[in-house]
Amino acid sequence: MKNILVTGGAGFIGSAFVRHMVATHPEYNIIVYDKMTYAGNLDNLLSVTDEPNYRFEQGDIAHRETVKQVFDRHAIDTVVNFAAESHVDRSILSPDAFVHSNAVGVHILLDESRLFGIERFVQVSTDEVYGDIAEDTFSVEDDPFLPNSPYAASKAAGELMVRAYHITHGLNTVVTRGSNTFGPYQYPEKIVPFFITEALDNRPLPVYGNGMQVRDWLYVDDHALGVATALFKGEPGEAYNIAGEHREHNIDVTHRILELLGKPETLIKHVPDREGHDLRYAMNCDKLKALGWQQQHPFDRAITETAEWYRNNEWWWRKIKTGEYLEFYRRQYAARLAAAENA
Ligand code: NAD
Ligand code: TYD
Repeated sequence: MKNILVTGGAGFIGSAFVRHMVATHPEYNIIVYDKMTYAGNLDNLLSVTDEPNYRFEQGDIAHRETVKQVFDRHAIDTVVNFAAESHVDRSILSPDAFVHSNAVGVHILLDESRLFGIERFVQVSTDEVYGDIAEDTFSVEDDPFLPNSPYAASKAAGELMVRAYHITHGLNTVVTRGSNTFGPYQYPEKIVPFFITEALDNRPLPVYGNGMQVRDWLYVDDHALGVATALFKGEPGEAYNIAGEHREHNIDVTHRILELLGKPETLIKHVPDREGHDLRYAMNCDKLKALGWQQQHPFDRAITETAEWYRNNEWWWRKIKTGEYLEFYRRQYAARLAAAENA
């Protein structure tokens, strides 16, 4: 392993992985390959821009020719695929891009990897492939896929192609399934950065339904380290859950954010629910722990530091909350907030 292509490396979790790898593994060249969708942001990579073992290439994982050229130009031997459309609400509004990047894109990346002789292929997937999980149960890696949103279904499709390339072509693959991730540099559409930045501006926090849905919360650097552990130590053909092992109702996360920022509970607005909303995600991650991974950032401290980070880094998020973001906000929330007002 020498030249590692990190696809989607300009996004939230990919950039955390890149910052970690560039800083702690000078023996590897880290090449980011990113389409730069609305979620790609080179500000996330400012701290590594001048490092000798970092390079950036712009391109789509679904574009065969560009993938091939980049493999060639950098003598790539390892692929870590973070590239994806990642937001469930957008997958309900506009699913085409999800099939393009998360299913077709993964297929093309796999096929070119096989043809080029890539030695190791890591696919970054999600706990959402397991679907809604009953109270007191925890997903394990061999559980069936029961995805419910177009996002989850497209990620499951990508994973199934990874499995097929391992079994049919012997490609050396590993899959990770992370839970809901939070931390600095997260596009402010996901609940944690969205609610923190909205609360800082004294704007309404639209909680879907009664807010009793449960998510497992994982700090971004722990997620990145989990992917690195799977890259270095995962068994070929296997999948590994990455969980923060801290589950909370959405409404409790919302209360906590308001408390941390010293903002009033009156900002909470219960709005009409997300369609097909999964009630609960929860995973067992003993398999990854057996490889030596340990969570380093317990939730209480991590959420406090995350709220502080957004408070102190308006330069990063304020410019994002313009243009395309406002158009998405209008489509996603205008009618919901109006319905809440009139209820
Ligand atoms: P993100 O939306 O912040 O970043 C995605 C990145 O991929 C962006 O830089 C974007 O420009 C790039 N990209 C999108 N389509 C591309 C394409 N066709 N070709 C090349 N680049 C493309 O996402 P994130 O939250 O950092 O998620 C990263 C990965 O982790 C995704 O695969 C996601 O499914 C998975 N995941 C995310 C979470 C979470 O809570 N955010 C949890 C579990 C798994
Ligand atoms: P999100 O951050 O979109 O992640 P995911 O859908 O991948 O779990 O949402 C986390 C939870 O928060 C989910 O149950 C939906 C809920 N949610 C709201 O209640 N309001 C919102 O405005 C958003 C974005 C999410």
